[in-house]
Amino acid sequence: MSGKRALITGITGQDGAYLARHLLELGYTVFGASRRSSGDSTGRLKELGIADDIRALKVEMCEYSNIRRALIECEPDEVYNFAAQSFVAESFAQPLYTSDVNGLGATRLLESVREVAPHIRVYQASTSEMFGNSGARGGLDESSPFRPMSPYAVSKLYSHQMIGLYREAYGMHCSSGILFNHESPLRGVEFITRKISDGVVAIQRGHRDRIMLGNLNAERDWGAAPEYVVAMHAMLQKDTPGDYVVATGISHSVRDFANFAFQAVGVQLEWYGEGVDEVGVDSANGAIRIAVDPKYFRPADIERLRGNPARARAELGWQPKMTVPELAAWMVETDMRRAEVGTI
Ligand code: NAP
Ligand code: GDD
Repeated sequence: MSGKRALITGITGQDGAYLARHLLELGYTVFGASRRSSGDSTGRLKELGIADDIRALKVEMCEYSNIRRALIECEPDEVYNFAAQSFVAESFAQPLYTSDVNGLGATRLLESVREVAPHIRVYQASTSEMFGNSGARGGLDESSPFRPMSPYAVSKLYSHQMIGLYREAYGMHCSSGILFNHESPLRGVEFITRKISDGVVAIQRGHRDRIMLGNLNAERDWGAAPEYVVAMHAMLQKDTPGDYVVATGISHSVRDFANFAFQAVGVQLEWYGEGVDEVGVDSANGAIRIAVDPKYFRPADIERLRGNPARARAELGWQPKMTVPELAAWMVETDMRRAEVGTI
C-alpha cells in the first residue's frame, strides 16, 4: 500500500470519482474537494461505493485563500486539478466565468503549491480541445500546434502553459494530461455520448420518440474514463514531469456513436437527408429516432479530433482497451439498469 495522500479538486465529477477509486485501491488517503452546493453532489461517489472513504472538504476555485488552506490541511503528496467549467458549449455563454475557474483557478492552485509546499506533485486536466482544427496526419501529439476554438479551450490552454511555466521557472513537478474525450456511465448527461445513451433508454421505455442533436459530422477520439485515470496517476509517478497525450488513436463521428448505442438495444438506424434535415430512422419501423436541432450547433466547433498516444504508451506503459461500440453498449446497459431500478 502506498501510504500517500492525494487531493482531488472536482471530486464530484466523472474523473474525480474514477480517480478516487483508483487511488483508494492503491492505498492512498484521498481528500476530495468540491464547491458548495445547495444539494448533495456526491451521487457519482455513491454509485462507485466510495463516498464514505473520501475525506471531503470545500474548495471553490475562484477563491485563492481556500485553495491555500486546503493544501495546508491535507498535506498532500499529489494534487489532481479536475475542477472546471468543463462543458464547451456553455463556455460560449459564460466565457469570463469559464476563464476564471479553468484558467485562473489552476494558477491559484499553482501559486498556493509554490508558497505552501513546492514539493507537491501537480496534475493538470488539459484537453485535446486545445488543438482545435489543427489536423495532424498521424494523430495529434504533444508537439502538435494549439489552435483553440472555444472560450473553454482558450482557458485550458492558459492553464496548460502555466503548468509548463511553473515546471520551468520553479522546477516544480507539474504535469499535464492532454486527454481526448473519455466517457462512461458517470458522464454528465449534457455531453453527447451520455445524452445519446440516456435518450436510447428513454425511447426504448416509451418515454420519448427521438433525440435532438446538433453537429452529427463531428468526430471525436472517445475512450473509457476508468482507463484514462490510470494514465494520470502514472504521470505523477515519473521522476521527471511532462505533458502526455492520452487517447485511443481512433475517431468516430457522432452519427457512428448513435449507431453503436442503438445497436446495443437491437435497433439498426438508417440515415436520410442532409444538414438540418438529416434524420436517423429505425430500419424496422421507419420511426425517426435522431433529428437535428440547430440550437445545439456551436458558434465554432472542432470537426475532427484524433490523438496519438505513442508517448504515453512508451513512457507510462499505458494502453487503451475498450472500443467505442463496447463503450456505447456499457453506457446504454447501465442507463437501462438505472431506469429499471428507478435511479434515473
Ligand atoms: P465534470 O464531470 O464536468 O467535473 C467537473 C468538476 O469540477 C465537478 O466536480 C464540478 O463540481 C467542479 N467544478 C466546477 N466549477 C467549479 C468551481 N468553480 N470550483 C470548484 N469546483 C468546480 O468533468 P470531468 O469529465 O470529470 O473532467 C475532469 C477535468 O478534465 C475537467 O477539468 C475537464 O475540463 C477535463 N477534461 C475532461 C475530458 C473528458 O473527456 N471528460 C477531456 C479532457 C479534459 P460540481 O459537481 O459542483 O459541478
Ligand atoms: N453536447 C452535445 N450535445 N454535443 C453535440 C450535440 C448535442 O446535442 N450534437 C452534436 N454534438 C457534437 C458537439 O458539437 C461536439 O462536436 C461533439 O458532439 C462532442 O461534444 P461533447 O460531448 O459536448 O464534448 P466536447 O468534445 O465538446 O468536450 C468534451 O471533451 C473535451 C476533450 O476533447 C468535454 O469533456 C471537455 O471538457 C473536454 O475537454
